[in-house]
Amino acid sequence: MNAGIDATLRGYQSRIETVLEASLPAADQVPQRLHAAQRYSVLGGGKRLRPLLVYCTGAALGVPIARLDAPAAAVELIHAYSLVHDDLPAMDNDDMRRGQPTTHRAFDEATAILAGDALQVLAFSLLAREEAFGASCASRLKMIQILADASGTNGMAGGQALDLAAVGRRLDINELEAMHRLKTGALIRASVLIAASCAPDLTSLQWQALDLYSQDIGLAFQIQDDILDVEGSPEDLGKNIGVDAARAKPTYPSILGLDAAKQHAQALKARACGRLEPLGRGGEVLAWLASFVVDRRV
Ligand code: IPE
Ligand code: IPE
Ligand code: MG
Ligand code: MG
Ligand code: MG
Repeated sequence: MNAGIDATLRGYQSRIETVLEASLPAADQVPQRLHAAQRYSVLGGGKRLRPLLVYCTGAALGVPIARLDAPAAAVELIHAYSLVHDDLPAMDNDDMRRGQPTTHRAFDEATAILAGDALQVLAFSLLAREEAFGASCASRLKMIQILADASGTNGMAGGQALDLAAVGRRLDINELEAMHRLKTGALIRASVLIAASCAPDLTSLQWQALDLYSQDIGLAFQIQDDILDVEGSPEDLGKNIGVDAARAKPTYPSILGLDAAKQHAQALKARACGRLEPLGRGGEVLAWLASFVVDRRV
């Protein structure tokens, strides 16, 4: 990897850890068990792809970094909440996440449900707080709208409902794509658009380019997640593999086959990078992130 990009991404990863740490309720604050579960669910690792997308998109558009901390934390909090609930027995019933027991295993189911609930509202609370990052009311409202749309029935929650309804069924490729775009793609798209919404001089051409880029990498991300569930390493991924097949979940490898799924992800990566042309040099790091999404093993 380009050493400069590597250092930039590491810098953002370390920055978001500090922001998340400061945003979460203290572990010794009542109710301690709930707060401990929230902190466990968020601070226990992860690639931080969504915050990276916020910081990299903002940097490409000249947005001051301090403006990006609250939106970067907000998208990661929604993501962390979605993982806590995704792992519950009523959903995927998984035991391992980010290399440690899932939240309901480390605590209990009720605490995991509440931790997810509290993380979700904390995300919106961060965006609503004026003092946090000096954005105007209108800008904060726009960010809240983007995140709410991506998290709700037209986004992640809706996609998760489709995922659960699809168990044991054979979806056609269009249905599978629609489900993936919602359950995973929507929040990845929101990570890019929320940062773009902070850029005062953005042209509609640039907005559209970023929108299409983010949709391509969002879909590619879940395709690669499906691929890694077949051929990834549990040690690298920090979660169990083979669980999609065991639960009869329709996935890209199960419907297209592994090779065609890989080709499709590569094609989406190439198309995503092609979308970045209106961003000029600013798009370089986003092109690198497209590769991170598709070529990752973690
Ligand atoms: C896993 O997301 C769940 C999906 C949306 C596919 P990530 O692979 O981004 O998980 P972390 O945040 O790195 O643990
Ligand atoms: C999860 O998809 C998408 C979410 C909204 C959390 P998966 O169920 O495939 O994610 P993993 O494989 O458990 O990380
Ligand atoms: Mg799931
Ligand atoms: Mg799952
Ligand atoms: Mg998966």
